[in-house]
Amino acid sequence: MSILTALDWRYAVRRFAEERIDEQQLEELLTATRMSASAYGLQPYRLIVVASAEVRRQLLPYGMGQEKVAQCSHLVVLAAQTEVGEQTVASYVAQFARVRDVPVADLQRMSDHLNTALAVKTPAQRLAWAHQQAYLALGTLLTSAALMGIDSCPMTGIEADGFDRVLGLTELGLTTSVACALGRRHPDDANARLKKVRLDHQTMVRVI
Ligand SMILES: Cc1cc2nc3c(=O)[nH]c(=O)nc-3n(C[C@H](O)[C@H](O)[C@H](O)COP(=O)(O)O)c2cc1C
Repeated sequence: MSILTALDWRYAVRRFAEERIDEQQLEELLTATRMSASAYGLQPYRLIVVASAEVRRQLLPYGMGQEKVAQCSHLVVLAAQTEVGEQTVASYVAQFARVRDVPVADLQRMSDHLNTALAVKTPAQRLAWAHQQAYLALGTLLTSAALMGIDSCPMTGIEADGFDRVLGLTELGLTTSVACALGRRHPDDANARLKKVRLDHQTMVRVI
């Protein structure tokens, strides 16, 4: 499927079929999402994959009446790290050293640079920044799902506090950014047949 065909095919699913996504396809989609770009490469968020139908039922009261929270095949909750700081930088630098096979000592300047960049932000700004990175991953998730023929619906129409409680995110140093339901569109989902409403090229794009 070409990228434009895939993006036209995808839409925010209102009603999912009962069918479940193949585990292998799900793994590939999560890998694609992990490949998402993030500022400094820090990836200050986690992907909570709610495969359990029982847990999705527990989330339903916090879904603002959106049945698809329980109906979908898998619900991915993109959760931002509540504390982004020296510990985050230290583990990133350690991983960087391992992957690129360089001594940690050689990465001191990079480490100082990242710590300085984070230190000038207030805790609220760091959290907002972490949410922004999670949204980038959401974009990657939606586009990748479309290319793979997996249906989805991004959702901020949820109560983040309720999601945090049900999923035990606070204890993990995380808080809900946005959720994304995955699965297969129901054949009777009328939204599938709606034309896309998008700004036209002239309004959206300015070439200077
Ligand atoms: C961050 C974000 C949050 C959204 N939240 C919801 C939601 O809670 N429920 C819903 O049905 N659609 C939600 N949407 C879907 C948008 O309404 C939809 O993408 C937009 O109207 C364009 O339609 P399309 O994606 O079907 O082309 C959300 C989309 C984004 C990007």
